[in-house]
Amino acid sequence: MGENEFVWWKHGVIYHLYVRSFYDSNGDGVGDLQGIIQKFDYLIQLGIKAIWLSPIYESPMKDYGYDIINYREIDSSYGKMDDFKLLLELAHSNQIKIIMDLVMNHTSDKHPWFLESSSSITNPKRDWYIWKSSRNGKVPTNWKSAFGGSSWEWDNKTNQYYLHSFLKEQPDLNWRNKELQLAFFNEVRFWLELGVDGFRLDVINYIVKDEKFRDNPLIKWGKPLKHQLYSRNRGTSIKIVRKLRELVESYGDKMLVGEIYTPPPGNNQTVLNYLDQGDNALHLAFDFSLIFRYWNAKKYFKCIETWEKNLPEKGWPTYVLSNHDLLRSYNRFGIGRNKHQKAYLTSLLLLTLRGTPFIYYGEEIGMQNQKIRRKHIKDPLGIKFWPFFTGRDKSRTPMQWSENKYAGFSNSKPWLPVNRNFFRVNVEKQLKSPYSLLKHYMFLISFRNRNKILQHGEIVFVNTGQNGILGYHRVFENQTLYILLNFRNTVITLPLNREEAWELIYSTNDRQDKLIQDFIVLERYEGIILNLLS
Ligand code: GLC
Repeated sequence: MGENEFVWWKHGVIYHLYVRSFYDSNGDGVGDLQGIIQKFDYLIQLGIKAIWLSPIYESPMKDYGYDIINYREIDSSYGKMDDFKLLLELAHSNQIKIIMDLVMNHTSDKHPWFLESSSSITNPKRDWYIWKSSRNGKVPTNWKSAFGGSSWEWDNKTNQYYLHSFLKEQPDLNWRNKELQLAFFNEVRFWLELGVDGFRLDVINYIVKDEKFRDNPLIKWGKPLKHQLYSRNRGTSIKIVRKLRELVESYGDKMLVGEIYTPPPGNNQTVLNYLDQGDNALHLAFDFSLIFRYWNAKKYFKCIETWEKNLPEKGWPTYVLSNHDLLRSYNRFGIGRNKHQKAYLTSLLLLTLRGTPFIYYGEEIGMQNQKIRRKHIKDPLGIKFWPFFTGRDKSRTPMQWSENKYAGFSNSKPWLPVNRNFFRVNVEKQLKSPYSLLKHYMFLISFRNRNKILQHGEIVFVNTGQNGILGYHRVFENQTLYILLNFRNTVITLPLNREEAWELIYSTNDRQDKLIQDFIVLERYEGIILNLLS
């Protein structure tokens, strides 16, 4: 195994930190950079190796930071550039990397580039965005915005439409324009010069659209991707990612992780395309198919196996259970008490697979979705589609630090209501309890940090989901770990190879047997790690 196999973004756990909801240091109800600094010891204690910060750039917050006005400034609600520099320094002095969220598909409609572009048809920056005249008095194409309605907005001043794949306040940039590419790459350089370690590329598969502006085929049942045939996933996007990789790597050991959104059930081939050869486009790519799977060991196995099978030789997998756009993993798997057991099990899976694990803030304490009353909804999607879709706020509520007022997140009313369960579910309480979900995450992360087998070892599938059991070996330099996960609410006895003796290293249940031979009994929803002795 070459030296470059031991890179930080392969072996470390990455924490997805939604800045607005992490910790409010100045009492305005909004999380901020100083807040992260004040809670930094917690992140160190957790054992994560990198932090992905949700967008902190200057923004009118129509889409909570995914509508950027200035790529070189910190939004005043999060602090100042000096706070960012302090955070970066603190992180680096603790060997923790900082990953910025980079929105390349669109800017805010208040961004100076768009103000210029929309000022006249002859403006030099006109072509930096996507403008089109009407087609027989109608919109130029049948493309739909991901946030509902047509993706074209009429501009009265210049009598043309501009394209927006999301809100009308988020006009799409024209990545086919070379000047725009250069200007944007300069914004990226700015952060590389400051010393950031990588970027999470927002909806990177949307950035290039069909050159001929063809209509998308009408939706066919079971073929959701075809629907976006011409408005997403055009081949040229990958060429731009390759250039970006060259740029970031000219600054050393940097990383790009891409959000390639494909609608449920997910399409890992589309995702894998963005890894290209594995060493020339994205370093990592999110695949949401695990998130979209029903609770079923066979389905989970299929997802992981397909990902492993189709990965380019030099590619590296990534796993994630939740994020700021989707429901929290804790709530996804049905109702009742077993939700808690399933949270232990899925995190064992996440932290023992071959690939980089991403943890969404609060996942480590089992934060749950909070129903938000209409008057408190902030997400533009929730506002627009209520009551059919109540938006994404439910998985963005303030971090639950303690049982103090506002869950210890702030000393004034937070921007989103705190989950009502914060008395029961909070960091302070779980730090005191030996068997809490938080302690379980901490154990597994620290075990992973010390264990080359989990960081780099091959994965060999052993139990492919029959009887609800998912099991795999992780193998590295003649050492083998065996991870077994019981997805069912039944106890199961599993025969083991008679020649082998195993030592129990960890169980999601509190169990005493240390030496395991001939067979193993797995309790309901139990997950274990065994180490091969002979
Ligand atoms: C991505 C972000 C999401 C945002 C959208 C538009 O999907 O994760 O939060 O609303 O892009 O930028």
